[in-house]
Amino acid sequence: MAGQSNRGQGPRPPSSLVDTAVRAAELQFERTLIQVRGETVGSIAALSHPGGQGDAANYGEVFLRDNVPVMLYLLLKGRYGIVRHFLEVCLELQSSAYQSRGAFPTSFVERRGELLADYGQRSIGSITSVDASLWWPVLCWLYVRRSRDEDFGTSQRVQRGVQLLLDLVLHPGFAGTPVLFVPDCAFMIDRPMDVWGAPLEIEVLLFGCLSSCSRLMELAQRGQRSRWLEQRLLLTRQWTHDLRRYLLQHYWVTSKTVQVLRRRPTEQHGEQQARNAFNVQPQVIPPWLQDWLADRGGYLIGNMRTGRPDFRFYSLGNALACLFRLITAPQQRALFRLVLHNREHLMAQMPMRICHPPLEGDTWREKTGSDPKNWPWCYHNGGHWPSLLWYLAGAVLLHEQRYPRTDGLLMGQARALLEQGYWLQLNQLPRQQWAEYFDGPTGTWVGQQARTHQTWTIVGFLLLHHLLRVQPQDASLLDIHGP
Ligand code: GLC
Repeated sequence: MAGQSNRGQGPRPPSSLVDTAVRAAELQFERTLIQVRGETVGSIAALSHPGGQGDAANYGEVFLRDNVPVMLYLLLKGRYGIVRHFLEVCLELQSSAYQSRGAFPTSFVERRGELLADYGQRSIGSITSVDASLWWPVLCWLYVRRSRDEDFGTSQRVQRGVQLLLDLVLHPGFAGTPVLFVPDCAFMIDRPMDVWGAPLEIEVLLFGCLSSCSRLMELAQRGQRSRWLEQRLLLTRQWTHDLRRYLLQHYWVTSKTVQVLRRRPTEQHGEQQARNAFNVQPQVIPPWLQDWLADRGGYLIGNMRTGRPDFRFYSLGNALACLFRLITAPQQRALFRLVLHNREHLMAQMPMRICHPPLEGDTWREKTGSDPKNWPWCYHNGGHWPSLLWYLAGAVLLHEQRYPRTDGLLMGQARALLEQGYWLQLNQLPRQQWAEYFDGPTGTWVGQQARTHQTWTIVGFLLLHHLLRVQPQDASLLDIHGP
């Protein structure tokens, strides 16, 4: 058992294959960095597109979500100046329009000396991106804690930015629930995929965002107490608490909870209604869930809406729920068990699949608007994104650090799974020019419309390498609740 749990941790002989891949990734990564006002600010989304020049899409812009792994990597490397500049430019672009006040842009770029920001409306399909805004306080807090730049954290502009963002989130709504309602396409999945309402990734990010805002406000409180800030803190903490309770109650499923769900009464109202708050009919529970959950697996479902829960598994939302400690330690282990059990689907030839299962047939036609890019097993619709694996690696390593000596066998298997994923990426990504995503049920084919030299593929691999080979202890950087 001990041998198993140590797999992948011991010292290794230097391998030129590894060194070559890491060196190549480092070089490509430097090429993705661009400047704003003469100072490096972050990375463009991708360096190239096989379709050739004149590629009209906006991959030459600095996307906030694509820069999450970039900023974390830069923090690990001690390149704090770039991260601070990035945070400052984002703050400068925080919307002041009266209908979107407080929102951060999806992406930005400098053109002829002018900063040009996109809040989603300039993107394909004129979408509303929400995740960028929720990521900003998380990155800001992780920067302040790692760099110890408390002056920045307590500065008026940061504290003002936090309050503007909180105004956008913490307000009464018709539903009276702690979740944030969003339209389709509000996060990494930014094409129609029936992920409107309260999709997991947004709600988990909201939890991370509110927790980070609290940490930043606590910092300001330490310097100078204010009754008003105290009230904001109380409200934020209460909201965070209610949100977590809501998600654990309505999104967490295991084999046991599904069996309870199947036998619940329907058409309940008033006091009785608590047993089936969303009036979900048992027929809605998909049969594939039986094998997917097996005996002791568990995960957060993709969405909860009246009568229509979304049982799809979303890798990023679940990994973030571990990292942000939204789910408890035993739930985290149930999630690792589930990933191990379904490795053929989730990892396959290129870890990891973005969501499972894909929408097919009429459902695909209806829900995606016949989107050819999101054909079943492609792109967002069950495609494989190498940039997602490091999040899971961070979750596993952080779990090991927080709860050492718990279920050594399981954690050893989880480590071995990451090792395998690492080798799969190492062997394929340099050859496949760090493609954006991979298609097909086994994730073997390079995405039909994938960009190459995609930044978060490159930097995701570098983070994975750092966490598995260089400094596993650095997983603590990702812990928003840590000291
Ligand atoms: C695509 C992806 C989105 C990403 C962007 C830039 O639009 O769907 O998640 O941020 O490309 O890489």
